[in-house]
Amino acid sequence: MAQQQHNHKVVENLGKFLADTYTLYLKTQNYHWNVTGPAFRDLHLLFEEQYQDLAGAADEIAERMRALGEKAPASFTAFSKLAKVKEENSNPDHKTMLKNLAQDNQTVAETCEALIKSAQEIGDEGTADLGIRRIQVHQKNSWMLNAHLQ
Ligand SMILES: [Fe+2]
Repeated sequence: MAQQQHNHKVVENLGKFLADTYTLYLKTQNYHWNVTGPAFRDLHLLFEEQYQDLAGAADEIAERMRALGEKAPASFTAFSKLAKVKEENSNPDHKTMLKNLAQDNQTVAETCEALIKSAQEIGDEGTADLGIRRIQVHQKNSWMLNAHLQ
């Protein structure tokens, strides 16, 4: 019973992590499409690299939920309820884009950390490993995005 309750926590955290990852994926792709300015080519390509990685990660997270016997949330309505990352509805300049994505990657890293802790608590090494791999990507993304602002 206690194990099931803990497992429920891991599944819930996986859903939140999926929602954040997918929202950041869309936001990064939005910026890939809409970025302007003197660093256009660099940022267009940097955002492309990041959104492609995020698309793969979303798939992996959803399939981890399926491997644990749960259905994965998979609609914008569901994601908007679960995600901490805010979607983009305006047209920010390139510096604001970089700032937003750097902050959003930190937010996803925090979501990821909660997932890792809940998985480790019940000895779910597979989920913990997924989280540990992904948290490094989000920390690296944040550094790279911030580096463009210095
Ligand atoms: Fe493209």
